[in-house]
Amino acid sequence: MSNTRLVTLSLVTAAGFALAACSPNTSTAEPTEVATTETVAPAERFFTADKFTYANYQEVVVKHAALDLDVNFDRKVLDGAVTLRFERLKPEAQTLTLDTKDLLIKAVALETEGGWMPADYTLADADSVLGSALNISIGTEAEHVRIIYETSPTAEGLQWLTPAQTAGKKKPYLFSQAQAINARTMLPVQDTPAVRLTYEASLRVPDGLLPLMSASQDGQDADGNWTFSMPQPIPSYLIAIAVGDIKFKAINDTIGVYAEDYILDASAEEFAETPMMEVANTELYGPYRWGRYDLIVLPPSFPFGGMENPRLSFMTPTLIAGDKSLTNVVAHELAHSWSGNLVTNASWRDAWLNEGFTSYVENRVMEELYGERRAVMEQVLDMEGLKRAISEAKRPELTHLKLPDDMAHPDDAFTLVSYLKGANFLFFLEDRFGREAFDPFLKAWFNDNAFQSVTTEDFIAYLHENLHKDNPDALTCAELDAWVYGPGLPSTARTPQSDAFDEVTGLLGTWLAGDSNGDEMLAASKEWSTHEWLHMLNSLDDFGDVGVETLDVLDETYAFTGTANAETAFAWYMQAIEGGYEPAYPALEEFLMTVGRGKFIYRLYGALKENGQAEMANRIFAEAKAGYHPIAQRRISDILAE
Ligand code: BES
Ligand code: ZN
Repeated sequence: MSNTRLVTLSLVTAAGFALAACSPNTSTAEPTEVATTETVAPAERFFTADKFTYANYQEVVVKHAALDLDVNFDRKVLDGAVTLRFERLKPEAQTLTLDTKDLLIKAVALETEGGWMPADYTLADADSVLGSALNISIGTEAEHVRIIYETSPTAEGLQWLTPAQTAGKKKPYLFSQAQAINARTMLPVQDTPAVRLTYEASLRVPDGLLPLMSASQDGQDADGNWTFSMPQPIPSYLIAIAVGDIKFKAINDTIGVYAEDYILDASAEEFAETPMMEVANTELYGPYRWGRYDLIVLPPSFPFGGMENPRLSFMTPTLIAGDKSLTNVVAHELAHSWSGNLVTNASWRDAWLNEGFTSYVENRVMEELYGERRAVMEQVLDMEGLKRAISEAKRPELTHLKLPDDMAHPDDAFTLVSYLKGANFLFFLEDRFGREAFDPFLKAWFNDNAFQSVTTEDFIAYLHENLHKDNPDALTCAELDAWVYGPGLPSTARTPQSDAFDEVTGLLGTWLAGDSNGDEMLAASKEWSTHEWLHMLNSLDDFGDVGVETLDVLDETYAFTGTANAETAFAWYMQAIEGGYEPAYPALEEFLMTVGRGKFIYRLYGALKENGQAEMANRIFAEAKAGYHPIAQRRISDILAE
């Protein structure tokens, strides 16, 4: 080796050490001291294994799943078999450990030279969060295991709707929700985002129902089985199924909408700009790698705004507002095709790599399509939410981007901190390095890590290597540490400022102070978008306890109670509950009876309880519960029991 080469090598090592405080990436690196006591101790950052799985994925890894299932609406179960292909990372490994939860395991077989042979297995005692480990003896040769099983009618990842619970009222409906750890209630699987697998499926459903999956829809075979294939490796939480009286409407050649008839045309209209979003996203961050992109508008009990199931985002019908005002959720789920589905958080402690990146990309795409004015309004609304979420955090560690090792449930990772502190960290980096450098950097991040699962520490090392090293003055390690391993919102955060919103708050303040009779606000409001209405309603809190009389005048003037826009309705009912404005209660009750979207109903139930209306909350929940998704049932039970 020449001298020059030696010199270069030692320089690289020196750079590695200089960076160490920013980049505690490898387990061989010496942990370095950090300046403040508030941030996470370096040693703890090296922990990489996913605690929410029993899978021995560091020894044996599942590469492919072939599902063969009857969708049985009479018994509310998926019934059949899954065949898994696995690879030994440790040649001596003779056990394959899978995650299961509430599954009935009927038989396990291994493929041998002599054909399929029964395999030894044990199903461990169930943990209420994690479920039961399924340990299968795989010997030293076999590469395929087949598990005959059925799901439970109460599987948390599946909601079975009776015909009466659908809009059409004639046929039943099934949809799944695997994120974060409910894939294991649908199939035995290594249920960790650290593992990626391809899958195929063959489904039998009752006549007249259409099954869909997060995969390419390959049509019906000669026996009438519906077949699907997902050739790109994905984490288990992206396996998804929906079955119902579902119709399709194309938006263009590669993008379309599935929905029940009653909302199909309105959905296609609402989401008509999805192709432009895909173009914007592709121009910024590289090719869309999944083939088709379709959306399915689910029944109202779907507990999320959207879910980024690959090729087929699942969406709440509460987005169909008639004016495209809530389509940032489409931009969000589509953006997951890069952040999350292509480059995936390796554990739920790194959830911000999925949700923070996606919230950032979402906002960039909104800016491309609709301009800075709307994008900044969304940033301000988000910032209001983020500050509230930080102030309400159960403990400071839950406001770090790198989440603590001891979360009780992975769902605890999905607070606005992961989404919006995460997005704001990227705004901060964008501001410090400049868009000209930051955009190509992010594009390269998605490209270089495509189809990989990554940690926070991988990102920081990549950031240093590809951006920071050549611009060392752009940020300090302490600044970076505060964002990633420290609590709350760092002082280096961007302060989004919207003139449109400032005008709204000005008019509202003048009226509330009695300096105007409200005519000016009424006149200006004729031009307001949903965003301005939301800002107005959220701003009421800044003027103290506005009182029932003021709420009454607002409702008389602007007719908030019963409004069809779910976001506005939610913001108004929160004010109504906090202000004790009873005329809104019947409409609030109707909202809680018909909408299952967690973002709205968890806070509404919480607010009822906190504002002396626990009895009303319990009464409505008792009535609404059966119609809610199992995930929502669990969450609301917890909220009301707290
Ligand atoms: N992946 C999430 C939904 C999710 C989170 C499911 C955690 C299960 C566990 C999805 O991408 C999402 O973030 N949806 C948001 C919309 C977004 C615009 C903030 C939602 O549901 O409100
Ligand atoms: Zn998301």
